[in-house]
Amino acid sequence: MVLTKLNRRQFLILSGGSAAAVLLSQCDTSRSQENAVSSSSNSNNSNSPSQSVYTSSNGLLELDLEARLSSVSLGSQTAQLLTYNGQIPAPRLEAQPGDKVRIRFTNNLDEPTNLHFHGLHIPFTGNADNIFLNIESGETFTYEFDIPTNHQAGTFWYHPHRHGLVAKQLFGGLAGLFVIRGELDEIPEIQAAQEEFLVLQDFALDESGNLLDEAQLALMTGREGDIITINGQTQPQLTIPQNGWVRWRIVNASPSRFYRLSLEGHPFNVIATDGGAVAKPIPQSEVLLTPGERVEVLVQGTAEAKDYRLVNLPYNRGRMGMMGGGRMGGGRMGGGMMGGGRMGGNPSDEAPTTLATVRYQDAVATESVSLPTQLADVPELPEPNQVRQFQLNHGMSPGMGMVFLINGKPFEGDRVDTQVRLNTVEDWEIVNTGMMDHPFHVHGNAFQVISRNNTPERDRAWKDTVLVKTGETVRIRMPFRDYTGKTVYHCHILDHEDLGMMGSLLIEA
Ligand code: C2O
Ligand code: CU
Ligand code: CU
Repeated sequence: MVLTKLNRRQFLILSGGSAAAVLLSQCDTSRSQENAVSSSSNSNNSNSPSQSVYTSSNGLLELDLEARLSSVSLGSQTAQLLTYNGQIPAPRLEAQPGDKVRIRFTNNLDEPTNLHFHGLHIPFTGNADNIFLNIESGETFTYEFDIPTNHQAGTFWYHPHRHGLVAKQLFGGLAGLFVIRGELDEIPEIQAAQEEFLVLQDFALDESGNLLDEAQLALMTGREGDIITINGQTQPQLTIPQNGWVRWRIVNASPSRFYRLSLEGHPFNVIATDGGAVAKPIPQSEVLLTPGERVEVLVQGTAEAKDYRLVNLPYNRGRMGMMGGGRMGGGRMGGGMMGGGRMGGNPSDEAPTTLATVRYQDAVATESVSLPTQLADVPELPEPNQVRQFQLNHGMSPGMGMVFLINGKPFEGDRVDTQVRLNTVEDWEIVNTGMMDHPFHVHGNAFQVISRNNTPERDRAWKDTVLVKTGETVRIRMPFRDYTGKTVYHCHILDHEDLGMMGSLLIEA
């Protein structure tokens, strides 16, 4: 582990309820000092004391970001995790349409990495959202890009995307929010709501707090950990203003775990999905969030002040167990299959688990709060210029063991799998012929779900990740706008992505 001498002054802007507190901080080499710096004094964010926030000012979001192994307290343990700037989750970045973003990134991990800006509509070439970059251990690289002036407001996030190491590095803790503020945030009812960010991550540690070795994890089904955290805390206490609204902006930053969320006694009102606002609030008793997905919900505090549990309901996302108990091949595959008890399933299969408790605070006068009726215009996309099919499956490859495939092929960086024209619209039919659910994700442009097994989707929404259940065909409609170049689509169970379930997409003028 290399410790670089970082002696810099930086503006750390902590978002505040009414006025933003600006803190001029001196960061030096000491990890603990940097952790201390991140303590938020914002009472609105009392649930996430260690989340620091970088906000753009005068059209520029500029920061230093360092990936490194750090000591972090997680539940009752001190854990050695992979962090950005020593924090779990990573600092939250906030920008506005039209802003420039400049991130001086240093890789102090002991292996290569890079950054991906999940869901942002920005260039995916050069020093922008370029997942083909390979930033070696010890190297520094400056990411720089502009947020388009017409970018949707929404909850996006960043994480590593070095093929082959994505699941491992995300499971180490490397993930943070990237928020674009815009029209949605101007709606008075939404402004009146108390805003909270919920970053969902799971971890697997040994008794000394070190990350479990990959050989002990179920890579085939996708690694899961038994320590589930919200904003880096196990079973935190969240607050809702009594009678008032809270706006939860939730990201599933786990590499494989699905969250089927429900809050006792409180319906969710979905106001935004991956790519920003929906047309009007959608009432739902629960929300299923697969890896990579985001949702924003409004939740109203009722009059009865007591503790409510935010639970993760059981969900079966398919198992490799039915493949038989034999060895599945050599190398890391073999290790994954031998994962013992973890193979049989995960706790979320069997019983609801409590992720957090919710308590009411400061009552709000009932008449001052209401649910917004209209949120955004989600346009209907034109008929597609082209329809394509993508089949998700897995198979055995001689010498490689189990591989995960799209249209029969494992990922190869040099190959172009799908070539499309800029300024066209396509329908993609994602067909899951395998035995596990796969959340399908496309970089660079958001899409709308048209139908699932020919049943038209009820609500129009911008998505970048969609669950395709085993046996299901999901049709998505996607416009290719603004940027040319090569990027990817893949399963967001990141072990599946690392094991081949990814294809390359070339957008040409
Ligand atoms: Cu969140 Cu290609 O990933
Ligand atoms: Cu992505
Ligand atoms: Cu998958």
